[in-house]
Amino acid sequence: MTGPATPSARPAPAANAMWGGRFAAGPDAIMQAINASIGFDRRLAEQDIRASRAHAAMLAATGIVTDSDAAAIGEGLLTVLSEIGTGAFPFRADLEDIHMNVEARLAELIGPAAGRLHTARSRNDQVAVDARLWVRDQCDAAVDGITALMRAFVAQADAGADWPMPGFTHMQVAQPVTWGHHMMAYVEMLARDRGRFVDARRRMNECPLGAAALAGTSFPVDRDMTAAALGFDRPTANSLDSVSDRDFALEYLAAASICAMHLSRFAEELVIWSTAQFRFVTLSDRWTTGSSIMPQKRNPDAAELLRAKLGRILGATVALFTVMKGLPLTYSKDMQEDKEPIFDAADTLMLGLAAMTGMVGDMQASRAALAAAAATGFSTATDLADWLVREAGLPFRQAHHVTGTLVALAEARGCDLPELDLAAMQGVHPGITAGVFEVLGVANSVASRRSYGGTAPDRVREQVARWKAALDMA
Ligand code: ARG
Repeated sequence: MTGPATPSARPAPAANAMWGGRFAAGPDAIMQAINASIGFDRRLAEQDIRASRAHAAMLAATGIVTDSDAAAIGEGLLTVLSEIGTGAFPFRADLEDIHMNVEARLAELIGPAAGRLHTARSRNDQVAVDARLWVRDQCDAAVDGITALMRAFVAQADAGADWPMPGFTHMQVAQPVTWGHHMMAYVEMLARDRGRFVDARRRMNECPLGAAALAGTSFPVDRDMTAAALGFDRPTANSLDSVSDRDFALEYLAAASICAMHLSRFAEELVIWSTAQFRFVTLSDRWTTGSSIMPQKRNPDAAELLRAKLGRILGATVALFTVMKGLPLTYSKDMQEDKEPIFDAADTLMLGLAAMTGMVGDMQASRAALAAAAATGFSTATDLADWLVREAGLPFRQAHHVTGTLVALAEARGCDLPELDLAAMQGVHPGITAGVFEVLGVANSVASRRSYGGTAPDRVREQVARWKAALDMA
C-alpha cells in the first residue's frame, strides 16, 4: 500500500464477478487491501491448477460436466499455467486470490465453459487441497535437504572418528570425546527431524477435494478419483474437518521448528569453534566474510545468520497456532493468514539447510587444536576416579573426593593431571600406582568409553558405517 488510505477515499469498484450476484457495489479499497491474498497465494498457482485439472477430469468421468467442456477446461488451465510460468499472467488484486484469478483468466481464454469448473467445489476445499499439496512438497524437500546435511556430517565424522576433542557440559570441559562422535550426534538429531517430516507427510496425505464449502456436495463426485490423481492415499473422511483444519501445516511447522533448533545449535558451535580462542574449525571463504576495517577478520556470518534466521521458523509456528487457536468450525477467513508463515518458514528452512550443508562440507577441523583442548580442563578426572574404583577398590563417592583433591593440587601447581608426580598423588591416596598414568591420557580415555553409543573410536566407526550404508554413501 502506498501512503495512508482513508476508507471510501476511492470510488467503489464494480461488484465481484465471482460472487457479486447480490452485491450492488464493490468493496472499499481498504477492504480489498485487507482481503486480497493474491500478493502471496500466487505461490499456490501450480498446485491450484493441478487440483483443478484433477477436479475437471473427475467431473467429466462422473458425467457432471460434458467431456468437451472438461477438455476445454483442462487445456485452458495448461495455458494459464504456462502464462504464469512465463510471467505473462495478469494477476489482479480485485480478484482476491489465486483461485479466482485462475478461474477468471480461464473464462477469458475458453468462455462460459470455465464457469462449470467450480461445480461441486468451493474455494474452501480448493485452498485446503492446494495448501496440502504445497506443504507435502515441502516435506519432501526437507527430507532431501536434511539427507544432504546428514551426509556432510557423516563425511566429517568419517575423517575424524578418532580425533580427541573436549566434550562439554555447561560449556565447561567435561570429558574427552572424539570429533567423529560430536559430528554423529547431529546425524542422530537430523535423522529424527527427517522422520518427523515423513510422519507429517503420511498423516496429511488425504485429499479434501469434494468437501466443497463444508458439508460435502449433492453432485455424484468421485472423491477416490481426485485423491488418486493427486497422489493422495485416500479422501478425507469428514467434510467439516477437511475445510477447517490446518494441523497438517502446523505439523510441518513444528517439524521445521525442531529441525531449525538443531541447526541453530550447530551454528552456535561453529561461531564459537571458529574464534581465535578455540580454533577448532576453519570455515571456508565461501561461508565467511571479511571486515572492512580489520584485515585479520574472517567472520562466520552464515553461521550467525542461521542462528538468528531459524528463529523465524518458530515465529511462523507460533503465528499459525495463534490464527487457529479458538477458531470455531468450519472455515473462517482468519485461515487465509496461514500462508505467509508457511511460505516464510519453508524458504528459511531450505535456505538454512543448504547453507549448513555447504558450511559443514567445507569446514576444516584442526586436529591439533582439538587434541590440545581435549587435554585441558582436567578432562580425564572422571577416568582417574573410575581407575580408583577399579584398581584401588574405592567406592565411587570416595574416588570422586580423592580425584577432586588431586585436581585442586594440580590447579595449585598450575599443571594438568598427567603432570602430577606419583609421589604427590600417593600423598593424597596411598593406593595410587604408576598404572594410573595410562588412563590420564585423552586417547586412552576416549578408547575406554566403549559402551554402546559411547565415544570410543571403534564405536564411532560402527555408527559411521551404519549411516554410510543407510545414506547410500560410497
Ligand atoms: N483465499 C482464501 C484462503 O486462503 C481462499 C478461501 C476463501 N474462502 C471463502 N469462503 N472466502 O483462505
